Amino acid sequence: MQNILVVGGAGYIGSHMVWLLGQHGVQAVTLDNLVAGHRDAVLHGELRVGDVADRALLDQILDSQRFDAVMHFASFIQVGESVLDPAKYYRNNVATTLTLLDAMRDHGVRQFVFSSTAALFGEPAYTPIDEKHPLQPINPYGRSKWMVEQVLADYARAYGLQSVCLRYFNAAGAHPQGLLGERHEPETHLIPLVLQAATGRRSHVTVFGRDYDTPDGTCIRDYVHVMDLADAHWLALQYLARGGTAGAFNLGNGNGYSVQEVVDTARRVTGRDIAVREGPRRAGDPARLVADAALARQVLGWQPRHGSLEAIVRDAWQWECRAGGPAPRRPPEPA
Ligand code: UFG
Repeated sequence: MQNILVVGGAGYIGSHMVWLLGQHGVQAVTLDNLVAGHRDAVLHGELRVGDVADRALLDQILDSQRFDAVMHFASFIQVGESVLDPAKYYRNNVATTLTLLDAMRDHGVRQFVFSSTAALFGEPAYTPIDEKHPLQPINPYGRSKWMVEQVLADYARAYGLQSVCLRYFNAAGAHPQGLLGERHEPETHLIPLVLQAATGRRSHVTVFGRDYDTPDGTCIRDYVHVMDLADAHWLALQYLARGGTAGAFNLGNGNGYSVQEVVDTARRVTGRDIAVREGPRRAGDPARLVADAALARQVLGWQPRHGSLEAIVRDAWQWECRAGGPAPRRPPEPA
């Protein structure tokens, strides 16, 4: 039976992955410091509370049992914060990943699945974006992920550590049976913010810019269901297990939806009024990010099953209702 160490397995995407490993009958140990993760989100296997930067703890975990592979979901993810505090991003997303990779190398664990991002592409030169698109991240968050991807290519050559980098476009949605979902604090992602406005937990959602070069003037993104992302990770594990070599794959549905379309879909799905205010552009937002995921389909056999925006919003809504209920959890923000 495979045994997988899931770093960051108590977070949004990691917790869906741990659940899926359980469904596949695979053993899992989650390592999470619970800074952004939640203890009750780990629905399968063992949870070790601790920091991936703690080399002694990593040695202890890797000595205690044999692992076939490591999946690494633990990182900071806020683009804006990464501009204001790059040290936090380089320390946590790059330096701690090196600690993890060196521990793997020293303990003979040679398969690694890494959470990368579409932020690697910066302002896109063309869409849909395939793996040949130039990598030119425009913020420290994207650069931190790009650095790790380069480290991984070198570690594959030098130490035989084989890795798959999965470049998520916009992760969204929730477990279809409502067991798990998105719980970021603070929440900055569009779909949960829109749905919190539908529950009344927020007074409104602000649209960041309506003057982009898109049909309705709002930014277009490729939303990909968190369960489809978990499936891709599962396939990446199997790819490595059958001797697949290091590589990177873009993960998205290939369909772009505008901010306005997300709001309209959420109004339809929830049957609630969602108040919208107009705001200025948010720094660093490209107008359009859409994936070409043909390579993941060909090489990994990935087939997204929850591709429609409607399905993504419906599952996220179910979670939002279950997580907080329609009553406001906190007073509405000031206007
Ligand atoms: N948006 C709003 N109002 C909000 C929040 C977001 O209009 O209150 C807009 C953004 O401007 C953007 C779109 O909704 O156009 C999606 O924004 P998100 O913050 O949900 O997601 P991003 O596209 O900014 O970022 C996501 C991940 C990043 C990753 C990036 C790469 O969160 O970690 O995708 O594609 F780097």
